[in-house]
Amino acid sequence: MRSAGRHFLQIPGPTNVPLPVLAAIAQPTVDHRGPDFPALTFGVIEGMKRIFRTQDNVVIYPASGTGAWEAALVNALSPGDSVLMAETGHFSTLWKTMATRLGLNIEFLHGDWRRGADFGAIENHLRGDRQHKIKAVAVVHNETSTGAVSNIRAVRQALDAARHPALLMVDTISSLASIDYRHDEWQVDVTVGGSQKGLMLPPGLSFNAVSEKARKAAQNARLPHVFWDWEDMIAMNGKGYFPYTPATNMLQGLKVAIELLEEEGLPAVFARHDRAAAAARACVRYWGLEIWCAEPDDYSSSLTAVLVPEGYSADVLRATILSQSSVSLGNGLGRLADRVFRIGHLGDFNDAALLGTLAAIEAGLTSAAVPIRSGGVMAAIDSLSGRNAMAAAAE
Ligand SMILES: Cc1ncc(COP(=O)(O)O)c(C=O)c1O
Repeated sequence: MRSAGRHFLQIPGPTNVPLPVLAAIAQPTVDHRGPDFPALTFGVIEGMKRIFRTQDNVVIYPASGTGAWEAALVNALSPGDSVLMAETGHFSTLWKTMATRLGLNIEFLHGDWRRGADFGAIENHLRGDRQHKIKAVAVVHNETSTGAVSNIRAVRQALDAARHPALLMVDTISSLASIDYRHDEWQVDVTVGGSQKGLMLPPGLSFNAVSEKARKAAQNARLPHVFWDWEDMIAMNGKGYFPYTPATNMLQGLKVAIELLEEEGLPAVFARHDRAAAAARACVRYWGLEIWCAEPDDYSSSLTAVLVPEGYSADVLRATILSQSSVSLGNGLGRLADRVFRIGHLGDFNDAALLGTLAAIEAGLTSAAVPIRSGGVMAAIDSLSGRNAMAAAAE
């Protein structure tokens, strides 16, 4: 049924696509083997290198993020290789399940889904692996199911402190172009990204940024793969083309999305996300609800997961908010099903969109008779306007 007015897509990805990106995608499809195509290929690859903060090769797949997860594993590893993975939530668990199904041996560092990866535990575990059986450490930077960020710089330091040669693989699907990330500086070997979150594109493209060390490991890796092969991609990309038909219209959109991000400037993009996240948390706290991430250092700037009080259904609440205000919120995933709702505050997003979203949630909480202190939106306004900070400074 039609609902009047603008729909608010405030799930933590896919995110809202800006009009210039939509317009670029709607351009006529071009010849992917034609003379003009290399300019597009070179442009988006160079642009993505700047977004990943890397000089390494970046490959672009016509696939969702799950494909880029698989690409990272199958290019670099062999059947039976050990991989150390940190359980941070639903997505780290899915990546682990995929790795197990591919025939890898996963050492899973269990976690309570309420914080980022425990880098101290990673270091201890690696120190215990004297024979260097572990070939890769894989961590999700921003756990989209929980709203908790892992400190990748500290994970890098853990590998270095343990003097362990494992590859470092990082999933940035819901952090790239939303939360500060540095592939080269943190010496990440494979960074996995996706189009549908901070990059402000529809779902359909995914990425691997690949270090020289990972390319070298890939030379001896034996997990079978064809479609995902890095070297096929890198060789053809060097000529401006792809080894198979790329998602041409999505690449046209990516070119514009990169331009928009760079026009705003990545530091400003990150600051905008931090500011929205702080205001969302101020609102949730005012309501008296619990922010699911239990470690303030790990709060995500892409999304906030909110625990619904015992005896209330997060899914009923989300359905109320959708039908009442046409606002879509993220559902609880895996063990968090029906217990949390997730507010996406990433991508093409501003203060007005945040305040509209929070107001709709507050109305929905009231309609669903969830006990809260009303007026949380005012706390968000105070946070956005700096009123709290000004009041504190005046005291
Ligand atoms: C952190 C993270 N990793 C992996 C995925 C899987 O990506 P996709 O659903 O695009 O295959 C998602 C999807 O939301 C995600 O948020």
